[in-house]
Amino acid sequence: MKLRKVVFPVAGHGSRFLPATKATPKEMLTVVDKPLIQYAVEEALEAGFTDLIFITGKTKRTITDHFDLSLETTPNMSEQKKALFDRTNRIIPSHASCIYLRQGEPLGLGHAILQAKPVIGDEPFAVVLADDLIESKKGVLKQMVDSYDDENASLISVQRVSKEDAQQYGMISTNDNDGNLMKLSNIIEKPKPEDAPSDLGVVGRYIFSNKILAFLEKTKPGAGNEIQLTDAIKVMLNDLPVFAYQFEGTRYDCGDKLGFIKANIEYALKNEKFGNELKEYLKRRLA
Ligand code: UTP
Repeated sequence: MKLRKVVFPVAGHGSRFLPATKATPKEMLTVVDKPLIQYAVEEALEAGFTDLIFITGKTKRTITDHFDLSLETTPNMSEQKKALFDRTNRIIPSHASCIYLRQGEPLGLGHAILQAKPVIGDEPFAVVLADDLIESKKGVLKQMVDSYDDENASLISVQRVSKEDAQQYGMISTNDNDGNLMKLSNIIEKPKPEDAPSDLGVVGRYIFSNKILAFLEKTKPGAGNEIQLTDAIKVMLNDLPVFAYQFEGTRYDCGDKLGFIKANIEYALKNEKFGNELKEYLKRRLA
């Protein structure tokens, strides 16, 4: 079955980024000049997804506004400005649609994904966490779609992380040691370094069999008193195959201030217009 549906959970508190996220969604923070959620949407469109399902919540209205055709040109505008407005308006191509659902209360990532159930039906679907920004030649979601061929199976993107950082990730163990597609044998949410089953940490790109929804419905609040996606995956592992996909690319944790600043520096250094000037500035500044 062709993968069409992708869920963007964007209803979280963003508390690690306060005060910036008091009234502004974390997912609208910009890396150079583009909000995180737009990078995520563009990655999904590149991978062929057409049904873009946003799980929004309180203080998240600007996300909805961002994908509207809201910029209006006026007759006296320069042709250059008109072209810029036109380009900026056309983020979502006409063959794709945005679907906005609400998570009334941020009760956890698992709970946010469950809000998409009425729209998912019986199809497999992807989930993208916009605060994980991944720089790669071929988008990570496209890499995963290209490796996906069994709609009963699920795919979770992973990267190697240091043991000390295990407490920030869902950590997994696998039956195989190598290759970029490995069968999962266990998953634990944010373990202490000594309890981490391996050095493979989960990153915010997933392709799920729709059966995950039934497991999420049965999941009770776990770590942080939130309904954890990790807990549902752990139970699903007993019945259905789940694979870890080691992607090609560099991931920035933009839900964290330092990760976000690193992403801005890296993307700015590659900017065609001012990348070289920034490099010179940084050289002088750090000399
Ligand atoms: P995070 O745990 O990184 O987001 O969830 P958070 O809760 O917003 O951040 P902190 O820890 O308070 O700083 C990953 C993604 O899941 C969404 C978030 O918006 C983010 O994109 N999420 C999380 C929801 O949509 N609903 C929730 O209840 C929790």
